[in-house]
Amino acid sequence: REIYFRGLEGVLPGLPTDLDALERTAGERLEPRAFAYVAGAAGTESTARANRAAFERHRIVPRMLSGVAEPDTSLELFGARMPAPVLLAPVGVLAIMNPEGELAVARAAAGLGTTMVLSTAAAHSIEQVAEASEGGPRWFQLYWPKDRDLAESFLDRARAAGYRALVVTLDSHTLAWRPRDLDQAFLPFLRGIGLANYVTDPVFQKAVGSPIGDHDLHDAVLAWTATFGDASLSWKDLPFLRERWDGPIILKGILHADDARRAAAAGMDGVVVSNHGGRQADGAIASLDALPAVAAAVGDRISVLFDSGIRTGSDVIKALALGARAVLLGRPYVYALGLAGEAGVRHVIRSLLADLDITMMVCGIPSLGEITPEVLAGP
Ligand code: FNR
Repeated sequence: REIYFRGLEGVLPGLPTDLDALERTAGERLEPRAFAYVAGAAGTESTARANRAAFERHRIVPRMLSGVAEPDTSLELFGARMPAPVLLAPVGVLAIMNPEGELAVARAAAGLGTTMVLSTAAAHSIEQVAEASEGGPRWFQLYWPKDRDLAESFLDRARAAGYRALVVTLDSHTLAWRPRDLDQAFLPFLRGIGLANYVTDPVFQKAVGSPIGDHDLHDAVLAWTATFGDASLSWKDLPFLRERWDGPIILKGILHADDARRAAAAGMDGVVVSNHGGRQADGAIASLDALPAVAAAVGDRISVLFDSGIRTGSDVIKALALGARAVLLGRPYVYALGLAGEAGVRHVIRSLLADLDITMMVCGIPSLGEITPEVLAGP
C-alpha cells in the first residue's frame, strides 16, 4: 500500500521489489568481482539452479471465503517470539558490499525485529555487531576452527555479547570449487577485510603474535587459512559444543534424514536444511527436495529451518508446507546492502514480509500453523 500511495505522487521504489530483478540490478551496478563472489556457486552451478527450480515444481492451492483479513505471521522459536518466519542467513565479509557491512545489516534487522545470524567470517566483530543490533534478536554462526581454544573463545565471546542461539555450519570446512572466484583469483577474506572476529580474538592473536597491524596481515591470513575449517570433525565431536553452549544449537547444512536423526540424538535443538545456496557440493540435491524427508525424520523433536533459494512470499509458504518452521534469506539482502546500504536491507526484509503477508491473505491462510502439506497441490 505504501509503495502504491507513494506512486500516486510519482515516487517509485528505489530498488526492485522482485528479488530476482534485484539480482540483475546488482549485476549491472556492483563491482564485478564482488558481485561474482556473491552470485556465484560451486562447479557448474547446477545445484544453485536446482534450488530455484524446486520451488517451481510446487504449487499452492488457494482457498476462498476463508475470512483472513489479518494473517498472523508470528511464531515462537526456541522460546522467543518472532514477528515472521524469516531470518537473515549468515554471510561473511559483508564489507565488500558496503563499508558498514554487518553493522548496517544489524541495524536494519534489529529495527524490524528480524533475527540476524552473524557469520564467524564477518568483517565486523561479534562485539561491534552486538552493539549495532542492540535490542534486536541475534544469533551467532560458527565456522568451527581447527584450534579448539579459538572455537571456545568464539563461543565465550558470543555468549558474553548476548547471542542467543548458535548455528554451526557443517558444509564448508573446505571451500568448494567455485569457478567464478577461481577465474578471477578473488576471495574477499584473503584481502584482510573478512577477518575481524579472528584478528580481535586473544587466542588468534597469540597464535600470530599480537597486536596485529597491517604489516602482519599476511601472517594473519596464513594463520587464518590454517585454522579456518576442520574436515576431520565427526559426530563424536558434538559434545564439545553441547558442553560449552547452554542455548539452542542448530546444525546448518543438513540434507539427509539420517544426519538430522543424529543431530537430534546428539542433543542438538535444530537443523538448517541447506546446501549453502549451491556454493558447496555442486550436483547436490536441491535444498527444498531434501526438506520433506528431514522434517518427517525429526520435525516433531527438533526445529527444522530451511535456506537456499528463498526469494518470494510463496517460497516461504512452500518451505513451511514441506516441513520448515522458518527460513533464512541469503543473497537478496546482500545485494541490497551493496546497492543501498541499511535502507536497502530494510527494503528487502519489508518486501519479503509484505509479500508473505499478502500471499497468505490471497491464499486464505490465517496463520503459520495452518501451513500444512495440504496447502500444496498433490504430486
Ligand atoms: C554464504 N553463506 C554462508 N553461510 C555460513 O554459514 N557462513 C558464512 O559465512 C556464509 N557466507 C556466505 C557468503 C555468501 C556471499 C553467500 C551467498 C552465502 C551461505 C548462506 O548462509 C545461505 O546458506 C545461502 O546464501 C542461502 O541461499 P540463498 O538464499 O542465497 O539462495
